[in-house]
Amino acid sequence: MKEIFETIKEVAFEIDSAIKRADLGYSDSENSSGEEQLKLDVQSDIIIEKRFASVKSVKALVSEEKEGVLELSSIGKYTICYDPLDGSSLVDVNLSVGSIFGIYEGELNGENLIASAYVVYGPRIELVIVDRASKPKLYRVVGSEFKYISDIKMDEKGKLNASGGTQQNWCDYHKTFIDDLFQEGYRLRYSGGMVPDLHQIMLKGGGLFSYPATSDRPNGKLRQLFEVIPFALMYEQAGGQAVNHKGVRLLKLIPSHPHDTSPCFFGSNYEIEALRKAYGMRE
Ligand code: AHG
Ligand code: MN
Ligand code: MN
Repeated sequence: MKEIFETIKEVAFEIDSAIKRADLGYSDSENSSGEEQLKLDVQSDIIIEKRFASVKSVKALVSEEKEGVLELSSIGKYTICYDPLDGSSLVDVNLSVGSIFGIYEGELNGENLIASAYVVYGPRIELVIVDRASKPKLYRVVGSEFKYISDIKMDEKGKLNASGGTQQNWCDYHKTFIDDLFQEGYRLRYSGGMVPDLHQIMLKGGGLFSYPATSDRPNGKLRQLFEVIPFALMYEQAGGQAVNHKGVRLLKLIPSHPHDTSPCFFGSNYEIEALRKAYGMRE
């Protein structure tokens, strides 16, 4: 596992320098969700694939930018599901972006996620790593290497509200829920990049990040294997919660296809309990 985290650190430096130096523009291809792929998405995907190709413990890779599973080694133990560049369109407007990694052992589902990591490419490069046994650990590039900064622990209640999805397509009870949080004094924070948005909420102690089911996207937008489930482990281990629109823990999700999405809610305990009441959840 150590080798995997060391590889993620190397990848982080390489992607950061691609972001900072690459010529921006769209590539000719579309990804499997039918979106235009940015050149940087493709470059980041190639960087990750190349680095992990020589890591013996890695059995296979599943990328947001590839259709299926890429088998690497028959003796490998882990499958890494990753979003090479999350929020890539934000590079054009010079906002923070990220990479997300979920490390699975066995079938690809929430219960088999054993560790996860994400990198934030912002004014600084930061890395957060978590496993089932400890709090998320924050690292930051200082000089030319990652330095451990602190463990991350969320408060019972936060102040920030990051509400995703097209508001016009929200259902009434979701709108009421979000409005009520603002009425209680929550402040809006939403950049459109789930990595910096979720990172901010975790580091500032708490709050809510939501990407609900909407009339145009009944299964939400965010992908289970390489976006939703890896962050669910982060939030749970930090003392928060991560559930879907039915109140089911995101770590219980079983995708039937690598690119399946799910409505998702990440928050501290207070906001997720408020969600359960507003949605009339039983779980
Ligand atoms: P990606 O760039 O990997 O496709 O992901 C972008 C995602 C996520 O980072 C963000 O939270 C969400 O899209 C924003 O979507 P909306 O613009 O619909 O709010
Ligand atoms: Mn993404
Ligand atoms: Mn992406």
